Amino acid sequence: MRVLLAGGAGYIGAHTALALVEAGHEVIVVDNLSNSSAEAIARVERLGSTSIPLLVADARDEPAVLEFTRANAPIDAIVNFAGLKSVGESVSDPVRYYEVNLGIALSLLNVMTAAGIRTLVFSSSATVYGVPSSLPLTETAPTGASVTNPYGRTKHMIEEILRDAVVAHPALRITALRYFNPVGAHGSGHIGEDPAGIPNNLMPYVARVASGSLEHVGIFGDDYETPDGTGLRDYIHVVDLAAGHVAALERAREGFAVYNLGIGVPVSVREVVAAFERAADRTIPQQVLPRRAGDVAASYCDPSKAEHELDWAASLTIDDACRDAWNWQRQNPTGYLPTRATFV
Ligand code: NAD
Ligand code: WQD
Repeated sequence: MRVLLAGGAGYIGAHTALALVEAGHEVIVVDNLSNSSAEAIARVERLGSTSIPLLVADARDEPAVLEFTRANAPIDAIVNFAGLKSVGESVSDPVRYYEVNLGIALSLLNVMTAAGIRTLVFSSSATVYGVPSSLPLTETAPTGASVTNPYGRTKHMIEEILRDAVVAHPALRITALRYFNPVGAHGSGHIGEDPAGIPNNLMPYVARVASGSLEHVGIFGDDYETPDGTGLRDYIHVVDLAAGHVAALERAREGFAVYNLGIGVPVSVREVVAAFERAADRTIPQQVLPRRAGDVAASYCDPSKAEHELDWAASLTIDDACRDAWNWQRQNPTGYLPTRATFV
């Protein structure tokens, strides 16, 4: 299969590119590099002993993407990782989030029509469930109504758009993968998560504290109704997540399907910090802070639908993820580029 990865230079895209190459597929990438670096693709090329055509462009530039697709024909499928993903930024700049995330999804559907591509995998998120109605979350749980931020609403809206597209064109094969909390890095230490500025997410923040570039981890609330009072999440290793995309592409069927991609094991904030302390063999300073607005106490999934229908299951643990994130952090203290402005 030859697959166009929109946003393929990003964290999850680069790991998926490598997983696809290792599974014998070919990939091409369109990315505007707004939150990534071409170096990520260069490293995937080296790890996979392959060459990956890269179009540096906005995925909403339909003529450019179509021309790139035609120049690399035949393209069998598109994976749409591209978009903006900061929850806080989406609250302060909602119009930009709707414009970019919805715009990319719509443009890629137009490219599919123009190029005769029938298969699409979309990066959705556990955030579409909003405040969980019950746990663990299955794919039939309600979505949309209790989502607390514009970023999450873009994911929910795009799922609805994709559902409508399949109603109109039943030969399409569209899959939305609802990721839980992706963490970790490739075992080689050559590709990993490289957030610009101060990380918003727990694992990259903890990694920077472990390396000494940030002072302490702020724990956002220890008074939740959870075993140790801190938030529970379903942390999925990015290598397992990448394998989930390969499975979704290889088993794509006509219609619209959604799958949870998680481990199904709830892990607390304190447990993440403790796992990282073991991986890095050092104490990680921590301090309890007030709850973060919009956070839920617990979010974890029942991954059995993906296990049964995609023949996929996560196998890596939070300890594996911390080991690999630490290995990546140590080998690449400034990320993909030689310098990084940590405080912006
Ligand atoms: P990322 O920011 O590392 O990757 C997104 C990529 O899209 C980046 O390379 C960026 O440069 C590119 N991009 C952004 N706007 C673009 C545009 N207009 N045109 C072309 N390229 C553009 O993020 P990620 O963590 O790899 O996430 C990938 C996808 O998965 C995103 O859609 C995100 O919303 C979704 N997701 C991520 C998480 C997570 O915690 N990382 C969880 C659930 C869902
Ligand atoms: C995990 C836990 C925090 C940072 C977000 C998005 C979600 C999805 C994945 C894209 C929570 C706590 C965090 C810190 C902390 N992204 N925490 N101190 O919020 O579950 O999900 O990323 O789709 O949409 O909302 O992930 O890593 O930010 O937080 O205590 O410095 O760690 O309160 O309990 P979250 P996270």
